[in-house]
This record gives sequence, structure tokens and C-alpha cells, in this order.
Amino acid sequence: MIEARGLVQTFQTRQGRQKAEVRAVDGVDLDVAEGEVVGFLGPNGAGKTTTLRMLTTLLRPTAGTARVAGYDVVHQSVQVRRSIGYVSQAGGAFSGARAGDEVVDHGMLYGLPRGVVEQRGKELFEQMDLPGLWTRMPKNMSGGQKRRLDIVMGLIHEPHLVFLDEPTTGLDPQARANLWEHIRGLRDRLGVTVLLTTHYLDEADALSDRIVIIDRGRVVASDTADNLKSQVAGDLVDLELADASLASRAAERLGTLVAGRDVVEVDGPHVRARVPHAGRSLQGLLRDLDGAGIELESIGVLRPTLDDVFLTLTGRSLRDAESATDPTGRTDDGDREPAVVGAATPSTPTTGEAVR
Ligand SMILES: Nc1ncnc2c1ncn2[C@@H]1O[C@H](COP(=O)(O)OP(=O)(O)OP(=O)(O)O)[C@@H](O)[C@H]1O
Ligand SMILES: [Mg+2]
Repeated sequence: MIEARGLVQTFQTRQGRQKAEVRAVDGVDLDVAEGEVVGFLGPNGAGKTTTLRMLTTLLRPTAGTARVAGYDVVHQSVQVRRSIGYVSQAGGAFSGARAGDEVVDHGMLYGLPRGVVEQRGKELFEQMDLPGLWTRMPKNMSGGQKRRLDIVMGLIHEPHLVFLDEPTTGLDPQARANLWEHIRGLRDRLGVTVLLTTHYLDEADALSDRIVIIDRGRVVASDTADNLKSQVAGDLVDLELADASLASRAAERLGTLVAGRDVVEVDGPHVRARVPHAGRSLQGLLRDLDGAGIELESIGVLRPTLDDVFLTLTGRSLRDAESATDPTGRTDDGDREPAVVGAATPSTPTTGEAVR
């Protein structure tokens, strides 16, 4: 459904009087098969939205090629647009019209009869938990309600391929869970292909058949969440010793399971290291420690997270990168505001963005 080769996007910017070039996307290859749900992850500014905007024909690639739903994004952009749904990060609902009218107009732009669109729209309002809001103006909706309206508009024409740019940002936990169910349903019942970006790592983990991580405009990993975790991070083993004076000897022994003593962290009575397949190697370690008279107070094993994967691949934490650069000060607690609430631009069949 998506086949991108060497996609590049550069922007010309000014810093004072100096012209500068931002290489937002720097040679992205991406393959997404029919029926896959792919989570596209990366810190703020990594190039996710820019990649999506090229794949949805809103931005012409500076270099490289992409076919989406079988059509070339530059030479067959109309066919691409007919085949996809796109929920942009900025949102697309025009705040000055009634929500239901907006949805109906949107669906009719795809050539669907009014009656069909109205019926589908009302069903989607139910599914997205927006009952009673059909005649409400988007400007009088909450941020989360507007986000759900954006999603209704992205799905109204029943596309086989959907791009969702941070679809659950600003949604409360219940609305997030509801949308997760809906995305799973789209794939399982209708075979819809989904490419979604998110900053919620639990969401990427729970929803995605495959994770693609992008950093500074380049894809740095692409695999299932499980494979990524087991290949790049290893399990974090935390030994708590009965007596802190034994920590150094315990660290020597834990070091034999990993690259050596150097990668073992000692913190008071705690000795920690990332160990590949801890489940297999721990029994031997525990016997060894016991034999050496090193008594343990407790032992903890933490499965790696996607953040650990990112840290291993790039040397930076996805969370650190976000909190350092995110101007909205968003946190990963599921209780944040959307990055942009209801852009005040009229919608087109895909979004409210202008085509360049
Ligand atoms: N129109 C533009 N002009 C100049 N620079 C731009 C433009 N659009 C994006 N950029 C820059 O390109 C880089 C990638 O931006 P992009 O929006 O693709 O990131 P992102 O991965 O979607 O980040 P976020 O998680 O914050 O949404 C950033 O450095 C951004 O500042
Ligand atoms: Mg973005």
C-alpha cells in the first residue's frame, strides 16, 4: 500500500539575514503492506508529519519517489487522494459550520450520495462517542471532541488506507481506548491499512503490527515491537544486595552475562545491567551469587520499552527529546492538550492544508 524510496524534503528558512536549509526528511524508505497497522515513532521534529504530508500528496518531495495505494504521489495525486484518509496533526474541521454539515460536505466531495454519507456519519458519531454533537459547531466543542470529529472526517469515505498523525493527542483515556478499538476494528473487519504517528509508546506497542522509528529525517529501525525490544535493548536486571559492600563483587559476576563489568551500574546496594534474555541466564547467575555468599534482598527484571529501543539506537531518549523540544510542554500522561486545536482553515477532501 505504501512504497517510498529515498524520500527527501528540504525547507528553505531564514535565520536573521542568513538563509538556511532544513533537511526535514533525509532519504526515507518505507514499505507498508495491505492490512498492516504501522506505528511511526520519533521525537519532535524527526520528520514524521513531513513524511506523511509527502505521502498524502500535500507536499511535493524534494527527491525520491513514493507510490501510495498503487499510485505515484506526484504524477497521480488525484488517485492517491481518492484512495486515502488523512487525519492531520493540525486538525481539519472548519469551526464555522455545523459538525454534521461539515462531515456530509466532506463525504460528498468524494462523490458519495448525501443519504449514504449522512447515515455513515451518524454511525461514526456514535462510534466516536460524539452523540448529540451533529448540529454543534466545532468551535464550540472541546479539544478532544474536535479531535474525534477530525477522525470521523478522515474515515467518512471508508478509505482502504488511513494516515493518522497523532490521532489520540488530547483525548482522555476512555476516548483513547475507544479509538484503539476502532482502529483494530478497521484492520480486523475491513482490512484497512493504517500508518499512525504517536508519542504514546504504549499506544504504538498496543496497536502496531510493526514499528518504524525515524530520527533526524532517517529511518533507524523497522520491526515488530517485540523484535525491536529483544534485539536492541535486553532486559534490565536490578539486583538489590543485602549489604552494599558486596555490590562490587556482584557487579563482577553480573558483568560476565553482558559486555563486561563496565556496563554494570552500581548504585548503593543496587547493581543493574541490561541482559539479553534474562529469563534464560538468571538462574545460573543466582546460583553463582549464592555460591559466592552474596546475599540478595530482592531481584527485579524489567522488559525493555520502546523508549529503551530508541535510546539504544540513537543514544537519546524519546522522552528526553520530547520534553526538551516540545513547546507545548506535553507529557506522556494521556492528559494533554492537542498540539493545535481545530485549525481555522476550511477542509478539503483530505485536510485543511494547502497543496504546495
Ligand atoms: N514549512 C516548514 N518550513 C521550515 N521547516 C519546517 C517546515 N515544516 C517542518 N519543518 C521542520 O522540519 C523538521 C521536521 O518537522 P515535522 O513536522 O515533520 O516533525 P515531526 O516528526 O512531525 O515532529 P512532532 O512530533 O513535533 O510532530 C522540523 O525541524 C521542523 O521544524
Ligand atoms: Mg508531527
